[in-house]
Amino acid sequence: MSAGGLALAVLISGRGSNMAAIARACAAGQIGARIVRVIADRNGTAGALLARELGLQVEVLPAEEFADRAAFEAALRSSIDASGAQLVVLAGFMRILSPQFTVHYAGAILNIHPSLLPRYPGLHTHARVLGAGEREHGATVHFVTSELDAGPIVLQGRVPVLAGDTVESLSARVQQQEHIIYPQAIGWIAAGRLQWVGNTLQLDGRALPPPSHQDT
Ligand code: GRF
Repeated sequence: MSAGGLALAVLISGRGSNMAAIARACAAGQIGARIVRVIADRNGTAGALLARELGLQVEVLPAEEFADRAAFEAALRSSIDASGAQLVVLAGFMRILSPQFTVHYAGAILNIHPSLLPRYPGLHTHARVLGAGEREHGATVHFVTSELDAGPIVLQGRVPVLAGDTVESLSARVQQQEHIIYPQAIGWIAAGRLQWVGNTLQLDGRALPPPSHQDT
């Protein structure tokens, strides 16, 4: 893994496939970034195991071992800051962060959400998309703000919903997109190409277009 580049702290709760995709993109030199620490909020995650196999520094902070959310978040902040991370990357981190936390890292914390936001914020997106009979689905990389799944959108990946899709088949298709768009978005930030100006994001000095599905 390259020694230079934007320092990332990747926060996970589970499988860690996005973390691994980002790690691969860093190691391959596709993006000018490096993972300085992976932090899991529970014991025994497959993602932490995978991160160790990839040679990454891993810290496990089991949330249930802390007295309350404030104590957990204080430990999380200490770990992130001690790692030297410049960007916090939520990658399947299944915990709602307080406004104090998100404001502290404003502009330096990203999330990936398995839907075409602003559609389908929250949980169980694949089942809800199937239940609603949608023909298109996808994933969204966005900056994290104090409003859940509502920060400025950096990038979206779209997939069709196919006849006969199950939650498993649809989520696998969405994840393929996630593994492309998350490294790409981080790469834009690492290259200094993405700026948050007022209410809009700019890529190379030009406003990112709003997601096209917003007008449907
Ligand atoms: C992804 O689908 C992501 O959109 C959501 O949680 C899932 C994490 O998957 N936030 P993984 O742990 O990266 O495999």
